[in-house]
Amino acid sequence: MRRIVHISDLHFGAHDHRAIEPLRASIATYNPHLVACSGDLTMNAEGREFRQAREFLDRLPGALLVVPGNHDMPFFNPLRRLWTRLNLYKKIITPDLAPFFQDEEIAIAGVNTARVLRVRGGSISDAQVEELLERFHSVPPRLTRILVTHHPFDLPEEFRARELVKEAKAALGRMQCCVDLLLAGHMHISHAAPIAIRYAALESKAVFVQAGTAASIRERGEAKSYKVIDIEWPAVKIRRICWDEELEIFTQEKVFTFDIAERLEHTAGRVELDAP
Ligand SMILES: [Fe+2]
Ligand SMILES: [Fe+2]
Repeated sequence: MRRIVHISDLHFGAHDHRAIEPLRASIATYNPHLVACSGDLTMNAEGREFRQAREFLDRLPGALLVVPGNHDMPFFNPLRRLWTRLNLYKKIITPDLAPFFQDEEIAIAGVNTARVLRVRGGSISDAQVEELLERFHSVPPRLTRILVTHHPFDLPEEFRARELVKEAKAALGRMQCCVDLLLAGHMHISHAAPIAIRYAALESKAVFVQAGTAASIRERGEAKSYKVIDIEWPAVKIRRICWDEELEIFTQEKVFTFDIAERLEHTAGRVELDAP
């Protein structure tokens, strides 16, 4: 079994300072193998904000995989955004914009969807899709494959396609046989569902997981939260951990269970599988 804690949209600089220590302490109780942080570590990509984020991340248990969000480039000043881009993120958080982690049970890849000229929206390039496919094709088929981006490839049906990664459907069409779980942030809402609800035309059994904001004051009508994801082939249990206004009691927990075994059937023609 592998346990991933998925946090997102910490937004240091626009964070609720009261939330930081309870968040860290709560994550520690789950003792994750890996923490995935899906971007928007800061509000305006200031050095001070990144240093606060760095200090927080350094105190988390387990391995760490981080991708940047649209707020990790200067957000309010277009000239500074053009000039600075992700430089402070790369200097203080990580220079690696395509992080990858693999062990005996999971392979997890991060892809940067933030773009200088798209202040809010996100995008994935052909080259990024190719690199991802290459990486996931090279891992043993029984590993659960997880993609982490800031911008979402899926959302509940009431959201329009323009809220998604640009050309999300085309990219998913190419990645569907390789990816089991897609983790994202950006919307500050919490969600988990099979991508087949929105993308019925795809044959994918992949599951999309959206983390709410873990620490930001920029809540969108929803309490601060994060996800605890337990992967025990072929089941994935996704829990949403959130807390009340006083940040004292962790009050809600939701459980989803998905069967990702059918992805193996899609890849069976291409990859030799051991008998079960
Ligand atoms: Fe955000
Ligand atoms: Fe964002």
